[in-house]
Amino acid sequence: MTKYQEIQQNLQTTQATWLVTGVAGFIGSNLLETLLKLNQKVVGLDNFSTGYQHNLDQVHALVGEDLWKNFRFILGDITQLDDCQAACHETDYVLHHAALGSVPRSIEDPILTNANNVTGFLNMLTAARDARVKRFVYAASSSTYGDHPDLPKIESVIGKPLSPYAVTKYVNELYADVFARCYGLDSIGLRYFNVFGPRQDPNGAYAAVIPQWVAALIKNQTLHINGDGETTRDFCFVANVVQANILAALSDNPAAGNQIYNVALNDTTSLNQLYKMMSALLKEAFPHVETHQPTYENFRNGDIRHSQADITKARVLLNFEPTHRVDEGLHEAMEWYKKNLPANKN
Ligand SMILES: NC(=O)c1ccc[n+]([C@@H]2O[C@H](COP(=O)([O-])OP(=O)(O)OC[C@H]3O[C@@H](n4cnc5c(N)ncnc54)[C@H](O)[C@@H]3O)[C@@H](O)[C@H]2O)c1
Repeated sequence: MTKYQEIQQNLQTTQATWLVTGVAGFIGSNLLETLLKLNQKVVGLDNFSTGYQHNLDQVHALVGEDLWKNFRFILGDITQLDDCQAACHETDYVLHHAALGSVPRSIEDPILTNANNVTGFLNMLTAARDARVKRFVYAASSSTYGDHPDLPKIESVIGKPLSPYAVTKYVNELYADVFARCYGLDSIGLRYFNVFGPRQDPNGAYAAVIPQWVAALIKNQTLHINGDGETTRDFCFVANVVQANILAALSDNPAAGNQIYNVALNDTTSLNQLYKMMSALLKEAFPHVETHQPTYENFRNGDIRHSQADITKARVLLNFEPTHRVDEGLHEAMEWYKKNLPANKN
């Protein structure tokens, strides 16, 4: 039995209270679904800036009425300290995911990104400290590696940030570290690498590559590949991210706390490979995909060429064992988009 299976088994009989911020978003709603299915109590905070009520409705339908009663939603904003305090009240574990994602958005509006990702983060740390939570787990980012050329990325070697978003995510790590030193707040930062899966938003100018491409393929629209398609990423299915959060929150390894971990697969997929895999998974349901061709465009400013995580640290200290390879995750994700995308008008 893996450590994660053991923890899941224990959770079924031990109920704790978890705060998930950004609960109406992509990763937050996946955390909610898993925690409720594990019979946990969950408080969710969200301001619906990039998240949706329909994500919460879908989790409601998936877990059923009985487990849904263990969920309490707070409509609130992490830029408001009192909202963070109300949410942290009587919480055991915080999984902090509310933030404004997207590098291009942060380049357009660095002040807004800073308000949500830095001021909001500091409010959450302060509220979690005052509520004496057991552990504060938060979404960090691979963007913190910035311009450092080494591959695979190891947690201790970072470069200069390439965007305001990357600055905010690095500042999160610095603040969490200082809160451990000054106030003894126990935290863990998880540097995610290109997460994908059900409920990731395909709409809007700042959509991530996989949902953007599914939407283009299903609707037979133009699909843009930035550069020659040989750019690579370490794509990570959301179930692996959920696992990392639960392991991080509950790890009793004394060496595990107040650390930063890469969360990905230590795998690489080029954009050309990704396009082929996605087309193959969609063409049966949408025959027009067979003749669909992508359009190659200029490289995007600020994009790094390759990204790949070393996940040894998470494996050793947290017992992290990814359950889904990229192809397995893509299969699940495409099944979800096939059912949900055409009807999803938001
Ligand atoms: N998706 C990825 O590949 C990826 C990679 C690295 C890091 N992350 C981080 O993971 C976290 C979750 O990302 P996601 O992909 O689920 O994004 P998402 O946009 O789907 O979810 C973010 C949620 O936070 C909420 N939110 C934003 N600002 C808020 C505020 N001020 N107060 C309350 N709620 C607020 C949004 O409404 C949304 O529901 C973010 O911190 C993001 O930076 C994601």
